[in-house]
Amino acid sequence: MPRIDSKKIKKLFPIFSKKENKNLVYLDNAATTQRPKVVVDAIKDFYETYNSNIHRGIYDLSEKATKMYEDTRKHTAKFINAKLSEEIIFTKNTTESINLLAYTLSDNMLQKGDRIITTSLEHHANFVPWQTMAKKKGFILSIVPVTEDYSLDMEEFEKLIKEPNVKLVCISAMSNVTGTTPDLKKIIKRAHKVGALVLVDGAQSVAHEHIDVRKMDCDFFVFSSHKMFGPFGVGILYGKKQLLDKLPPFLYGGDMIKSVKETCTVFNDTPWKFEAGTPSIGDVVAFKKAMEFMEKLGIENIKNHETNLAKKTVEMLKKYKQVTIIKPKNLDKSGPVISFTIEEIHPHDIAEVFNKEGIAIRAGHHCNQPLMSRLGIPATARISFSIYNTEDDIKKVELALKKLFKIFAK
Ligand code: ALA
Repeated sequence: MPRIDSKKIKKLFPIFSKKENKNLVYLDNAATTQRPKVVVDAIKDFYETYNSNIHRGIYDLSEKATKMYEDTRKHTAKFINAKLSEEIIFTKNTTESINLLAYTLSDNMLQKGDRIITTSLEHHANFVPWQTMAKKKGFILSIVPVTEDYSLDMEEFEKLIKEPNVKLVCISAMSNVTGTTPDLKKIIKRAHKVGALVLVDGAQSVAHEHIDVRKMDCDFFVFSSHKMFGPFGVGILYGKKQLLDKLPPFLYGGDMIKSVKETCTVFNDTPWKFEAGTPSIGDVVAFKKAMEFMEKLGIENIKNHETNLAKKTVEMLKKYKQVTIIKPKNLDKSGPVISFTIEEIHPHDIAEVFNKEGIAIRAGHHCNQPLMSRLGIPATARISFSIYNTEDDIKKVELALKKLFKIFAK
């Protein structure tokens, strides 16, 4: 099997060859990955060669831009194995994709007294919209807790799914804090058995594993381009066509209509009825290059490389008894995200000392305050890997740790 040569791959990312970033060890990939030259070039090329609005112009330039935009939709469908390209909606980010569903499902498919199940592993993006809608509309929000091993408590899930009127399960494919990857197939099957729909938040998983929405059989799958080497400003919402057809638009305005009279409007078909106004066209077009880039590397190769780095990092961290690793023990069943805390040292201090050593990590609650409360900690430090990270990076992390211990021993 071809291996990832991360040193070679790093050269494909212009940011690492800038003199300002000569010593940068970038370990905040769960927040956003870096962009390869092919993606940066595609943005530039769009503005220099094809710049025009889409779906509107009866002239070559606009028709070309429209084709490029719609080609990305087709490619996205193929990338996650959706049946139809009409099942792909472009939004601004994962958060907007979830809000689109929260508003439209709450107004049309859910009723007062219905139950929504979510989990302790959710990013605020897959929690606050449901909590807000539950308060507004009288839904009951149930939360599946985590076990001691930071996995989903499946016994608790089983209890909650048996409650009456469960209509929706909102679950992350990979936690941005612990890397936990719940057994989605099992959860989706169980949810469907009681007639509930399932929304999967794939923001953290798409960069690390192959996604097959048909095999998974989720009803909705959401993710962002910027966590998988693509531009900022592009979110994706996949939904089964028959469900999307039943939902009303979320935003209203230009490009989402068939006809407008003074007294009424006929909306466009799925997916265009969900894409009001001018989208981030150049970014959507460049997003195709990001998917192609991943396909060329091989998603299985990416996964193997990153899992290997995660395992080596956990081994290294385990040597230090003052470090607590907040991650499931089975590293083959979690993503390349490693949260940790250190006795008596605040995660912000860890990040600051790391930063002085040129290492970028995230520290804080990671937009998951309910999980922090359940774990009884204010924050964690988090290392998250991508394809350009190397074993050298882990050595640098260890050196930074030693420095940190020295500083705080004083
Ligand atoms: N959701 C992103 C993270 O976990 C921003 O860092």
